[in-house]
Amino acid sequence: MTRFWRRGPVADRGTPPAKTAPKLPFDVAQAPPMLAEIIDHVEEGALLLIGTEVRWLNPAARLMFPDIEHPVGRPLVEVVRDHRIDGLALRARESGLEHAAEVELPRTDRILQIRAVPSQDGALILLARDVTRLRYLETVRQQFVANLSHEIRTPLAGLDLAAQTLSAQLPAEGDTRLFIDRITQETQRLADIVFNLNQLAALDAERIEVERLPFSVVDLVGALIDRFQARAVAGRLVLRAETSADGATAIGDRAKTDQALQNIVDNALKFTGVGEVVVTAGVDRDRVEVTVRDTGPGIPSRDLSRIFERFYKVDRSRGGLPGSGLGLSIARHLVELQGGTIVAESSGGSGTIVRVRLPRDPLTSP
Ligand SMILES: Nc1ncnc2c1ncn2[C@@H]1O[C@H](COP(=O)(O)OP(=O)(O)O)[C@@H](O)[C@H]1O
Ligand SMILES: [Mg+2]
Repeated sequence: MTRFWRRGPVADRGTPPAKTAPKLPFDVAQAPPMLAEIIDHVEEGALLLIGTEVRWLNPAARLMFPDIEHPVGRPLVEVVRDHRIDGLALRARESGLEHAAEVELPRTDRILQIRAVPSQDGALILLARDVTRLRYLETVRQQFVANLSHEIRTPLAGLDLAAQTLSAQLPAEGDTRLFIDRITQETQRLADIVFNLNQLAALDAERIEVERLPFSVVDLVGALIDRFQARAVAGRLVLRAETSADGATAIGDRAKTDQALQNIVDNALKFTGVGEVVVTAGVDRDRVEVTVRDTGPGIPSRDLSRIFERFYKVDRSRGGLPGSGLGLSIARHLVELQGGTIVAESSGGSGTIVRVRLPRDPLTSP
């Protein structure tokens, strides 16, 4: 990387660096003026450290850490007044690897994203980005979704009740019944979307508690298969389990794992026209693994990494198949909350495998 640090007009010339400190690995006065202008005006704060000492900083960094009038030549912890940032710099220096963290500064109410990047010359570059507004907007969005889905729930329940009451009074056949039943179905679809949105809002706000208890994934998969069997039969699909007999025991939240797997099996049954859906459960070193494999259309590779985003559907124009695109994003949240991972694999056109891995109960691990 080209270095173009310079001593700008705001640089602290009053405090000479300590005599024992190594020299800067470049001549700060030699930076091309245009580059120096740029670095003086970027919004990202930049500090250059040698050892623990701040040797240079740009105006943005001065605004972020305004406590000390003459920061050059002072230890980082005195300049930023935060031990987490100091610790981050220390870890980056000791490991020689870039470290990053988000830090909320209580005194200024700012949220900073900090990156500590070691340079080859033994110096350390600290970059700070103010993400306060971004985080605020995220909170506003989350609250908006939470409030909206909460408000919609009551009228929706009223609509559903009215449609069901009318339906009960109508003869078994006829146009009116057809439309009333349609209203009931669509209301149910809307209620599902609202339920999912509500759950995502709760997950975003970290209002959901997670258990950490041992549970058998083989039992869980068995129960799951039983629950979906009737639907598979109705869709002329084979739904079966392939579980190893060694009693794979996960450590986590059974109900949340169940819900995540329900969303995955629901997809497998929904998107598979002919063939089978196989759910496996087994162990892989310190993890238990559940996979859901289907013989459906598969997922194009360009979409694979995106299907876990909220509202993402591979081909909206395909239409027909109901769903809001929230199922997998909820599944991912639920699995990651437990320290697990979820990935999808597919080689276009030949089915999909969704793989969920969870921490294994140490008492049953070898
Ligand atoms: N087993 C699967 N086979 C093919 N496509 C799938 C499968 N699972 C998920 N997808 C794709 O990923 C998208 C996101 O899934 P999901 O979040 O559950 O949304 P939804 O089921 O509401 O459409 C689906 O719309 C579909 O395009
Ligand atoms: Mg789904």
